[in-house]
Amino acid sequence: MPADESVIAPLNPAPELEENSICAVNALINGEDVPIILHRRNGKTVAWVNVCPHQGRRLDYDPGRFLREGDHLICAAHGATFSLESGECVSGPCRGESLQTVPTDALKLETTG
Ligand code: FES
Repeated sequence: MPADESVIAPLNPAPELEENSICAVNALINGEDVPIILHRRNGKTVAWVNVCPHQGRRLDYDPGRFLREGDHLICAAHGATFSLESGECVSGPCRGESLQTVPTDALKLETTG
């Protein structure tokens, strides 16, 4: 995603993220509802578009429910395995490709309740 694209507003409340956790949220990006993966790591939150580079499917098997093995996130569709450190596919049908990073400094998520 180019740096000049803006992430404007939340659609879902953002949960409090515990260290090493993964969750799914939605955000409005340039007017579009975009599914996002949030991962808390070393005290920082990283965000990727929840779309697999292999065939464009969501990575979770149910919204917010991900397959995970240690430090890897596995696409529920065909098993592409992504590093949670880099977002790069390290094994599977799209090896060498990466999840699309979303700049978290521009990501505005709000909690409700
Ligand atoms: S869509 Fe993710 S591995 Fe095929």
